[in-house]
Formats: sequence, C-alpha cells, structure tokens
Amino acid sequence: MKKIKLIKKQKSSQSTKWMQRHLNDEYVIKSKVEGFRSRSSYKLIEINKKFNIFKKCNSVLDLGCAPGGWLQVAKKMTSEKSHIVGIDKNKIEGISGIDFIQNDIFDPKIENILNNKFDSKIDILMSDMSPNSSGIKSVDHLRIVSLIERVVEIAKIILKSDGFLISKIFQGGAQGELIQIMKKDLHNIKYFKPKSSRKTSSETYLIAKKN
Ligand SMILES: C[S@@+](CC[C@H](N)C(=O)[O-])C[C@H]1O[C@@H](n2cnc3c(N)ncnc32)[C@H](O)[C@@H]1O
Repeated sequence: MKKIKLIKKQKSSQSTKWMQRHLNDEYVIKSKVEGFRSRSSYKLIEINKKFNIFKKCNSVLDLGCAPGGWLQVAKKMTSEKSHIVGIDKNKIEGISGIDFIQNDIFDPKIENILNNKFDSKIDILMSDMSPNSSGIKSVDHLRIVSLIERVVEIAKIILKSDGFLISKIFQGGAQGELIQIMKKDLHNIKYFKPKSSRKTSSETYLIAKKN
C-alpha cells in the first residue's frame, strides 16, 4: 500500500514538473502567440529553412497530423492551389483548404483511400509519428521499426520520384535497422535535429528523396 502511494506521489510530481517545463517552453509560448497548434510546427519550419522542401511543392501528405501544426505550416508555405491531406487516428479541428482522413495508417484500406485522394504522385510525404511506448524495450523497438516500414511502404505507393520524405526517427537501438530499410527506396538521406526538438528527446528527423 505504502509503495503504491509512493509511486503515485512520484508520478504526480513528474507530471507537475512536465507541465511547468511545458508552460515555460519558448516554442510553446511562441506557438500560442503565432497561432500554431503545436510546438512541433517549429521543427518543420526549421527543416524547411535548411532543406527548402516546400519549393515547387503542389501536394503534401502528413501522416499522424493531429493536432495540425505541420498542416498549418504546409499551408503557409505552399500556394493556394496545393493539395494538402492529413491522416490521424485522432480527430482534428478542421483547417480550411485541407483534407483530413481519420484513420490508422496500418489500415490496409489506406492505399486505396490515398490513390483516390490524389490524382497523381505527391511532392512531399511527412510523418511526425511516434509509436505508443509500452515501456518494454524490445516491444518498443519493434513498434518503431514497423512504423517506419509502414511510412516507407506508403512512400513507395504515393511519393513521386525525387519527392521529399520527412520522417521522425529515433536515435539508438533501431537506427541502424531503419537506415537499411530506407536505403532500398530512398537517396540523399540526411538527418537533422531541429533546435526546437528537445535535447532530452531521442527523436531526430530524416530528410530523403524517393528513388
Ligand atoms: C507528435 S503528434 C504529431 C504532431 C503534428 N506534427 C503537429 O505538428 O501537430 C503524432 C501523431 O501521430 C498519430 N499517430 C501515431 N500512430 C499513428 C497511426 N498508426 N496512424 C495514424 N496516426 C498515428 C498520433 O495520434 C499523434 O496525433
């Protein structure tokens, strides 16, 4: 009983610390001021500054787009005519001019849905998804690998040759395996950790072009 109480106390102090850190975070404050739905928006803004991904871009698919910060950036950086689609398991508040599909990217129907959405292959496929953590290292490793495998599978179907793939990946155990998976279908593979990505997080971003 005492142990349970102690764990509960530790958890509540951890979440208070998280909340304090979140509220003091410069990118959280900036996103509120500038009207972005997530602090993640600044990661994509930095990626674009470095790699100029939105130049000549007419079509974008954002996998795991909720709450919609990356979609807002894509909309801002592309022309009125661009076709931007987002997918997420969770619903988002609508963004004018953006198509949203509520679904899991592992749903086998996704291929058909996407082929119906886009008339031709797209310019940018981006993913800021992380798998849910189970707390078990080997399970989490498999989840990360299968998520990236799925992103690459979708890239093979929908992304045009020389189109950009932007994907969150994780430094550490699975990285070598992920690079091998990606090398088969991608070239110009680069890694970039934006300043707005927390130093304590193992996330980094892959920027590559489709073969
Ligand atoms: C970090 S958030 C994305 C934040 C977003 N880039 C933004 O700026 O607002 C990751 C999202 O991926 C979604 N996600 C994770 N796995 C998914 C899956 N298998 N299918 C669809 N969405 C998924 C989660 O629901 C979550 O909303």
